Amino acid sequence: MARYLRVSGIVGLITLQNPPVNALSAAVRQGIVDTVKRALGDPEVKCVVICGQNGVFCGGADIREFGSPMTGPPLVPMIHAIEAANKPVVAAIEGIALGGGLELALGCHYRVAHSKAKVGLPEVTLGLLPAAGGTQRLPRLTGLPAALELITTGRHITAAEALELSIVDRLTDHSAVDAAVEFAVSVAEQSLDACRISTRPCPCPPDVDALFVAAMQKVRQKARGAIAPVACVQALQAAATLPYAQGMEREKELMATLFTSGQARALQYNFFAQRAVARWSMPGGARWDSSRPKPICKTAVIGLGTMGRGITVSLAQAGLSVVAVEVQEKPLKEAKQAISGMLRRGAKRRGVAPALDLITYSQNLRAVADVDLVIEAVFEDVDLKKQLFQQLSAVCKPDAFLCTNTSALDIDLLASQSRHPELVVGMHFFAPAHVMKLLEVVYGSRSSPEAVATAMNLGKKMGKVGVAVGNCRGFVGNRMLKPYLEQGLFLLEEGATPKLVDEALEEFGFAMGLFRMSDLSGIDVGWRVRKGEGLAQPGTASRVRQGHRYSPLGDLLYEQGRFGQKTGRGWYRYDNSREARPDPWLHRFLEEYRARRGLVARRIDRQEVLERCLYTLINEGFRILEEGIAAGPEDIDVIYVFGYGWPKHRGGPMFYAGMVGLTKILGRLEHYQQAHPDVLYLQPSGLLRRLVASGSPPVHKWREIIKKTHSHL
Ligand code: COA
Ligand code: NAD
Repeated sequence: MARYLRVSGIVGLITLQNPPVNALSAAVRQGIVDTVKRALGDPEVKCVVICGQNGVFCGGADIREFGSPMTGPPLVPMIHAIEAANKPVVAAIEGIALGGGLELALGCHYRVAHSKAKVGLPEVTLGLLPAAGGTQRLPRLTGLPAALELITTGRHITAAEALELSIVDRLTDHSAVDAAVEFAVSVAEQSLDACRISTRPCPCPPDVDALFVAAMQKVRQKARGAIAPVACVQALQAAATLPYAQGMEREKELMATLFTSGQARALQYNFFAQRAVARWSMPGGARWDSSRPKPICKTAVIGLGTMGRGITVSLAQAGLSVVAVEVQEKPLKEAKQAISGMLRRGAKRRGVAPALDLITYSQNLRAVADVDLVIEAVFEDVDLKKQLFQQLSAVCKPDAFLCTNTSALDIDLLASQSRHPELVVGMHFFAPAHVMKLLEVVYGSRSSPEAVATAMNLGKKMGKVGVAVGNCRGFVGNRMLKPYLEQGLFLLEEGATPKLVDEALEEFGFAMGLFRMSDLSGIDVGWRVRKGEGLAQPGTASRVRQGHRYSPLGDLLYEQGRFGQKTGRGWYRYDNSREARPDPWLHRFLEEYRARRGLVARRIDRQEVLERCLYTLINEGFRILEEGIAAGPEDIDVIYVFGYGWPKHRGGPMFYAGMVGLTKILGRLEHYQQAHPDVLYLQPSGLLRRLVASGSPPVHKWREIIKKTHSHL
């Protein structure tokens, strides 16, 4: 809705009302059309101000309406009517003006913003483009290079940057509505000719063709198959080369293609999935989000290796004080240098002072006696961690939360070492921890909802996307990765090369194929995990271990000292660079391996690579849902998009499964299982079978079926 009021005698004030972000729903659009008409028809009114209630201008189109047929007045003619008005219309921007919200403001004749407001055209992040004139008006205001950057990235910018780019005309530190009213009165009698952005020419640099070639190359490189950024460049090209009206037609055509694409659906699903994970409840009904998080001021990190350093940086950047503990002198000294460097570089990028003073370093565990929360990141060694939890329990305040960054160890086992197991949770960060957004918050059987709430809240403060998950080996992300990696090895045994497998996965949209990823994270790391599980057994030829087909290829590489990038050799060779090159040594090694085991290489195509790697990963996701380790498919999808480089425009593995069709996934798993009966992960999960038997409902209906399954157990 939109409320209309006459203020200061001659100003018509229109207030958008649709909490929480005044999104442009059908009712709001109708409200704007009606109130603008009323203001323009009122002879007493000489100028108009449009604002939003509760200090928020407008969060753009109402994303909740996207799945249903369009009702109410469309945005484009509504904005044209505002621009064509013969009385000045001023947008008073407080809070945010995003997407359609900014497009509405660009249709106004002037824009006054609060200094803390943010503006942007983030449609590309939802698989769309700003199709209410945003691609045509913005470049006319800012010039093409800035518009290209803003529209293809969807970046939100500060009011100060918006002023610099001429997107807003005035800034105020006080009420933007008051300032806009005052401004509107001051321009009430002035000509509006120069204020209608659509009538201006689009300023083009002389090398405009080169600009678009470079822009297209850049977005294609970054997009990993996403089509919206490419369409954004095409729409801006129309702004540069066509008259406004034709540019608008092109914008509309491109939007129509995007709107019906699976990619837009996937990205919009992802938007809501991110918000759904915050509403998670523990099995048994205890809701962590209704349990208040405890305030955390002072934290500690134990173990300043790869992970501990990143976690320390991330905590300090969030404004928390950190006691950073490392037992040995040399690693402590190196960690101090590395952490200070990371903080300095981060602060320089963000234009703030580095938070060096928030960190105190120590070699003594007693230094953590007064902290509110500890995150341990020592070696992945169960005995070491057990001992550490006993020590922490003795040293820390009785109400201190004890968190572990373990990648896979049993949270209950670690909690049992503490006097307060209810205060123990996993906080599983991803490398590099100060960059990666994902945080798995792992609750054990005795973790209190308050402990989960506190860890989730701390993660949010650190700028992480937290997902609460249950306790099992590898939790959600790493557990699902296991069959995926395993299939990669089996494919090599059967005749594929690392390059073939990686190219198929990268073409699908992964940031990195599985062998390149393994070379980056270290072949020795995986070997240590398998050794701990009793799987890696040097000198053993058997391909069946623990009742399951096993490929020792990774172990054999480890035994050759090929640890990946760090040794310059792994699945690929790295000749003093990060560039992965196929290595003839590896191809000979694979041939000899196959010959020794009587395996005959066959031709493998990319489709088989995708089906075997992705469908086994998805199948494990169904098992995780069945066991209640993840609350819903959204949780798994958020984990994969934010922690494992799954292409966002494909929603996440579980959403993707729905897009492919559950019947097809089940059929292909059964097909491969027949060919490889000794591969456990190819056995279709019970939940997948049940969903197919229930007619393959859409992903948002799965929770109901999972709930029914649980209540029958
Ligand atoms: N349409 C419908 N609902 C929206 C919305 C929109 N454009 N923008 C936000 N919301 C809803 C969210 O779903 C959430 O609902 P919930 O409380 O039921 O989960 C609520 O508003 C608050 O949003 P949230 O993201 O949790 O709050 P925030 O303060 O962290 O961020 C925004 C606010 C506006 C920055 C963020 O929600 C956002 O980026 N929205 C999308 C803006 C956009 O892309 N607009 C263009 C649409 S084409
Ligand atoms: P790392 O080997 O780089 O660092 C471990 C650090 O702990 C070393 O600096 C070591 O000196 C220190 N340490 C050992 N015992 C200690 C003690 N008693 N007190 C204080 N410090 C001690 O290891 P990492 O890669 O940072 O991994 C740490 C933890 O994080 C492991 O549990 C690992 O499974 C987990 N993890 C790692 C990654 C990753 O990608 N590296 C990702 C997620 C989680």
